[in-house]
Order: sequence, then C-alpha cells, then structure tokens
Amino acid sequence: MRMILVGPPGAGKGTQAARLVQNFRIPHISSGDMLRAAVKEGTELGQEADRYMKAGKLVPDAVVIGMILDRITKPDAANGFMLDGFPRTVPQAEALDAALKKAGFDLDAIVLIEVADDLIKERVTGRRSDAAGNIYHIKNNPAPAGVSVVQRKDDTEEACTERLVKYHGETEPILPFYEKKGILKRVNGVGSLDEVSARIRKALGTH
Ligand code: AP5
Repeated sequence: MRMILVGPPGAGKGTQAARLVQNFRIPHISSGDMLRAAVKEGTELGQEADRYMKAGKLVPDAVVIGMILDRITKPDAANGFMLDGFPRTVPQAEALDAALKKAGFDLDAIVLIEVADDLIKERVTGRRSDAAGNIYHIKNNPAPAGVSVVQRKDDTEEACTERLVKYHGETEPILPFYEKKGILKRVNGVGSLDEVSARIRKALGTH
C-alpha cells in the first residue's frame, strides 16, 4: 500500500499513522519527524529547516522534496509507505507523482483527516511527546505516570495560527489533483482515537 495522510496541523496524522502502520507493515514516513531529527542533529539541512519550523512556515520545497524522494527509495519502503506531512504544496505533489510514475508505481490512497480550525489550537498547544516519539495530549491522551514529555517548539498559539494559514493556502490546493484521480478519502477526525482509526480503515477498505 502506498498512501498519504493529510490534514491540518494537529488533525491526528502522526497519532493515526503510528496505529495503522503496525497492521499494514509499511514504514511511517513523516516529513516533520525527519526535519525535527535533522534539527536535533544540527545538520546543515536541520539548521535551515529550524528557522522556518519555529515560525510555523513551510520549509522550502527543494529541501523537503529531495529528502522524501530519497527516503521512499529505501529498501523498507519497497512494498509501500505511509507518508505523513508530505506532499504539502502543489510542487511537492507534482514531484511525488513524477517520481512514482518513473518508478512504475501508483498511489493507492490519500486520506484527509478533517478537523475544524476551532478544535485545532487546543489539540496543538496541549500536545506533548516522549523521547520515543509517542504522542500524548495533556487532556485527551495523557502520558502514563512517570513518563517525561516535552512540548514541540512550534506548538505555540502563534505558530499554530501560521501553520493553519499555510495549510489552507498551500496544502488544500493539492486535494483536487487527488480527487480527480479518485483516490481521495475524507475522514472525520473528531472522535476517540479508536473511532478515527476505524473510519480510516473503512475508507481504505481494510477493516
Ligand atoms: P509536521 O510535523 O508535519 O506538523 P503538522 O502537519 O502541523 O502536523 P502535526 O504533527 O502538528 O499534527 P498531527 O496531524 O500529526 O497530529 P497529532 O497526531 O500529533 O510539520 C511541522 C513543520 O515541519 C511544518 O510546520 C513545516 O515547517 C515543516 N514541514 C513538515 N513537512 C513539510 C513539508 N512537506 N513541506 C514543507 N515544510 C514541512 O495530534 C495532535 C494532538 O491531538 C496530540 O496531542 C494528540 O494526542 C491529539 N489527538 C490526536 N487525535 C485526537 C482525537 N481524535 N481526539 C482528540 N485529540 C486527538
């Protein structure tokens, strides 16, 4: 299965990807996680990305496209992948389409997790994660006692507002391209984690 998870910041892409890839036996490839790892390592790419990410701006296409197209050629992605956070702009969608065509592959599905803007800020500012990358929420999904958690630098109200602007302005325009191909699945992202997982499985026909 070659698929994409898309949606506004805090829609639950990372949370759902972690639950779904276990069944599908494909890697979860998150552009945000890869960029945060590069920032932590202090690589040249990471230093450049950090400036954009902190402010809730998109990292330039040239940086992200190269990173993801390289990642999906790794052996663990030979039978499929779940992309999370990529593509996020029309040029990124075009680059992915061209790379897949060249390799002779088709995308099976793109799942849009829909959550209204007024619920997003609470999700984003309340998010915490642990050293292993598990995602929690101070109210909706608290970390187990004794697990230490941190807050992402871009999970401020200000950066979240900017990320929503970027989502509506730059990412939503990729959706008609996939809708025309007949592979866009819209899923309601409001409900318990299990309810949302079940809706995604149903949309993918894998329940
Ligand atoms: P990225 O890491 O991709 O962030 P994002 O798209 O803004 O998405 P999030 O990780 O914030 O949210 P999510 O949908 O994964 O939600 P989660 O499951 O954590 O990108 C970060 C930055 O990197 C970008 O701003 C940009 O600068 C850069 N970048 C990345 N990719 C790029 C690209 N392709 N091009 C250019 N730049 C790029 O859940 C959120 C919270 O809600 C959690 O606390 C969770 O516990 C809670 N929650 C989840 N589901 C539910 C539910 N059903 N009910 C209640 N709470 C829930």
